Amino acid sequence: MLQLPMTRGIRGAITVDENTETAITSAAWRLTQAMMDANQVEVEQIACIIFSVTPDLDAAFPATGVRLAGLTTTPLFSTREIPVPGSLPRCIRALMLVTSNLKQEEMRHIYLGEATKLRPDLSTVQTDMADEPGAGIPSYRKTVLNIAPYQPGKPISELRREKGLTDVIKLASNENPLGPSPKALAAVQQSLTSLHIYPDGNCFELRQALAKRLGVEGMELIFGNGSDEVIKMLGVTFLEPGDEVLVCEPTFSEYAYAANLMGAKLRTLPLKDHAFDLEGMLAAVNPKTKIVFICNPNNPTGAYVDKGAVDDFLAKIPEHVLVVFDEAYYEYVTAEDYPETIEYVKEGRNVVVLRTFSKIHGLAGLRIGYGVAPGHIAKLVHRVREPFNVNSAAQVAALAALDDDEHVTKSRDLNETGKAWLYQELTKLRLEYVPSQTNFIFIDLKRDSQEVYQGLLDRGVIARSGGVFGCPTWLRVTIGTAEENRRFIEALAEVMER
Ligand SMILES: Cc1ncc(COP(=O)(O)O)c(C=O)c1O
Repeated sequence: MLQLPMTRGIRGAITVDENTETAITSAAWRLTQAMMDANQVEVEQIACIIFSVTPDLDAAFPATGVRLAGLTTTPLFSTREIPVPGSLPRCIRALMLVTSNLKQEEMRHIYLGEATKLRPDLSTVQTDMADEPGAGIPSYRKTVLNIAPYQPGKPISELRREKGLTDVIKLASNENPLGPSPKALAAVQQSLTSLHIYPDGNCFELRQALAKRLGVEGMELIFGNGSDEVIKMLGVTFLEPGDEVLVCEPTFSEYAYAANLMGAKLRTLPLKDHAFDLEGMLAAVNPKTKIVFICNPNNPTGAYVDKGAVDDFLAKIPEHVLVVFDEAYYEYVTAEDYPETIEYVKEGRNVVVLRTFSKIHGLAGLRIGYGVAPGHIAKLVHRVREPFNVNSAAQVAALAALDDDEHVTKSRDLNETGKAWLYQELTKLRLEYVPSQTNFIFIDLKRDSQEVYQGLLDRGVIARSGGVFGCPTWLRVTIGTAEENRRFIEALAEVMER
């Protein structure tokens, strides 16, 4: 018989060493993650989490930490308990309501730290005594617990396995539907016999060619294992605990990752008209602000900030701030007032521009991206780079892809045609969307997008539910081939009718 998911309760508690905001918020996230992991619960299954803290904890509410760690749409509630004589001090308790196919008796309750003493009666209690220092696991940096693991788009193979489907399309990770640059593919094939040799740690040939193309010095280029790695390297180079990183939300999650990894504080502002709010960011800059990330055009919305706004922003931003423009979708942009930010790098401003070979060049699987930074910034970042961070196939492919203007033009044209067609079909379905300068469209479904996402999966179409971006009624879809776009619209129309 089909087992329908039911609402189940998971209990948990954790103690903290001190009444500080950092201790409370990171403990709350650690507890939440442990409760989710032990019960194999995904964010979408959580109906709500209710926290309470003992009266000796008044520096912060646990919900704040959990929200900052990435549970932006889950309803969270925090409350302070009344004093109870003899109760365990500095304790955070949680009740998580989830939908699950498991029976209530099968749910695992989590008690961490001193809180393990609280419920010796529960047979399904899981404690973390084993991971306390001195009991088999070395102590670790507590800031690690602030990092929410990256949630990628669902791989095609996973959906095939789960649903027994053979015909699956993925429009979830903004990959190039035409595949890799053919020139890159041929170059990689030729280079495979040299796989026993370490890659060139300096990416010499690629560096020369790209520097020439961009009109910058070779040493002003920072290559990474994807631009993801360049974001991380910037964090490792510049961020210390106590520093602040400023972004608008929703946006690409790697900026939060870099901040949390280094123990810096992530400060967020809402987007304005779906793009980064540069005026709001200027007003939010303070002496602790170290890096401002500007995703332009922004993922997941596809909207952009224009040259005028960027000029104005850079004229006013104080010198202690590093401004990072993430331009992963640069080659797809057609707006005429889009800024050429490499010019600011050439002026020697504290600006880094990030680009990637993953998108229009179709090399996402090889992992290669780069940053362009003035020498005084780049030479610091080069120090933290791992010796062979960009593999040899990626270097060879990127070099060939740089020369493959035909593939870039074809990909951009396909994207423009697909975008126009999708706009038209979405309008027919009476759905609103954000006009996009990228290879994806952010669509306002005006209903729970998780349901629609699931309905699309049932029909072999993988898109991206807005929940992961804190936008539970939105769906992000990558613009595919004409056939993929048609399948998406057909499936969407069916699901929306239900
Ligand atoms: C805005 C943005 N920046 C960076 C990346 C990461 O690109 P890469 O594959 O070069 O790590 C992505 C990938 O989706 C992205 O959307």
